[in-house]
Amino acid sequence: MLFGERGIEIKSPDQIAKMRVAGLLVGRTLELIREAVRPGVTTGSLDALAEDTIRSGGGIPSFLGYGYPPFPATICASVNDEVVHGIPGDRVLHDGDVISVDCGAIVDGWHGDAAITVAVGEVEPAVLELMRITEESMWQGFAAARLGGNVGDISHAIESYVTSQPHPSGGSFGILRDYTGHGIGTEMHQPPNVPNFGKPGKGPKLRRGLALAVEPMITLGSRDTVVAEDEWTVITADGSMSAHFEHTFTLTPQGPWILTALDGGEERLAAMGVPFGGR
Ligand code: MF3
Ligand code: CO
Repeated sequence: MLFGERGIEIKSPDQIAKMRVAGLLVGRTLELIREAVRPGVTTGSLDALAEDTIRSGGGIPSFLGYGYPPFPATICASVNDEVVHGIPGDRVLHDGDVISVDCGAIVDGWHGDAAITVAVGEVEPAVLELMRITEESMWQGFAAARLGGNVGDISHAIESYVTSQPHPSGGSFGILRDYTGHGIGTEMHQPPNVPNFGKPGKGPKLRRGLALAVEPMITLGSRDTVVAEDEWTVITADGSMSAHFEHTFTLTPQGPWILTALDGGEERLAAMGVPFGGR
């Protein structure tokens, strides 16, 4: 394996093609979960759906057994003020909740990692707006990424998009500082970190063969979080609602290629006037 500047794993085009296979499995799994979310379902049933889908697609759930204490499930299921790393179980989803589902899989040794936040039934407009802004900030990050640029270009694009958006009740959004996106490849978490705030032109160079998971975690209130007694679930310190979106992506000479998006990100990038890197 080739490692470049600061221990960043550099993938060959063939290896990126393998990451695309893993990414598509993660993307398909999250689409099935999106369709399954409704009032009355448990987070545990979503986890079972994800595990079945990943295993029958030839993958291995990457979260299962990860870290310490070992993460006990295939997905992270984080409801309302839970931002990330929620443990699925008996919790029943109710009308008005939002659930963030994070999912990772390994296929043939290569990782994909992605997350979506989904509304359960009818959700308050302010929370829908939070979801929209969080997802859009991630795409702004991809749009700012180019070969020869820096990781800070992505971070800055996310932060400046979020701070440019009017807050539904006149406050400001919380952009988590304690958790970041990351390099990804033969392991789920690799250097470099990809913070959701920062300065353009700073940080490691964006070069060919890099793969990054970009994952804004945004709240309607404070950016401060606490970890629950289960030692995993990350909750907003002020109880405010939160959203989380994530995709794994790479840069080819043509442009960004979103490895966990079913269409590679082509449609969304085109709408932003950004060339598609996936062909
Ligand atoms: N996939 C998460 C991330 O985006 C991390 C999941 S932690 C685990 O970085 F324990 F659930 F694996
Ligand atoms: Co991630």
